[in-house]
Amino acid sequence: MISVENLSKIYSLGRVKVRALDDVSMDISEGEMIGVMDKSGSGKSTLLRQLGLIDWPTTGKIMMDYQDITNLPENRRSRLRLSRLGYIFQEYALLPELTAQENVCLPAMMLGKKRKQYHAHSLQLLELVGLKDRITHRPRELSGGEQQRVAIARSLVNNPEIIFADEPCANLDSVASEVVMETLARLNKELKVTVVFVSHDPDDKKYAKKLIFLKDGKIVPKYLNLSSK
Ligand SMILES: Nc1ncnc2c1ncn2[C@@H]1O[C@H](COP(=O)(O)OP(=O)(O)OP(=O)(O)O)[C@@H](O)[C@H]1O
Ligand SMILES: [Mg+2]
Repeated sequence: MISVENLSKIYSLGRVKVRALDDVSMDISEGEMIGVMDKSGSGKSTLLRQLGLIDWPTTGKIMMDYQDITNLPENRRSRLRLSRLGYIFQEYALLPELTAQENVCLPAMMLGKKRKQYHAHSLQLLELVGLKDRITHRPRELSGGEQQRVAIARSLVNNPEIIFADEPCANLDSVASEVVMETLARLNKELKVTVVFVSHDPDDKKYAKKLIFLKDGKIVPKYLNLSSK
């Protein structure tokens, strides 16, 4: 589904260069649930930003369905991002003045869809993440875990094939974290959405079918395939 070849990202800060990703090659197959783990500063967020077409790699190639998508022009890139990829960030990134449901609808509106194409769907998604009774709440009227579940519903509104979640539970307590991770696991299992998540918490290993460890921007060559477990 996605294949990454020799991906590197070098940040230049004046004369200082940080090699945040160093020659990473990997494949993401349909239906996988991949956990990206390891220490702070190892390049996890950088990897997700390149895979999710939020940033531009310095060198290397990203292929989706055998098509090179590394250097697509911005309009095609953002259309691909909106229609086929979903994102969940550590800090939820909801718009404070919009209700839960309006936040969920936003990526569909950005694709120019008509209200009838997303309105009922947004309600179903909020129900799916257990927030049927919170649709008119604004982010400040929701708990952290609830806000993150709105963000999950939002990531699903355009029926993406793959979801990238960068430390979705970093700001949550253990109970809310479990609900969020269980929700992601359910999407993977029931809706067959491919999920790539980043986590610091060793407990979250149990949600992954495959684990990737990053050290100094490199993949530690020990791929742990847990799906046969
Ligand atoms: N915009 C940037 N400019 C310069 N350096 C950066 C930038 N973003 C990240 N870095 C550096 O790249 C390296 C990898 O950062 P990254 O955010 O990918 O790490 P991470 O594994 O996600 O860490 P954490 O677990 O703390 O979120 C770090 O050394 C960081 O300081
Ligand atoms: Mg990070």
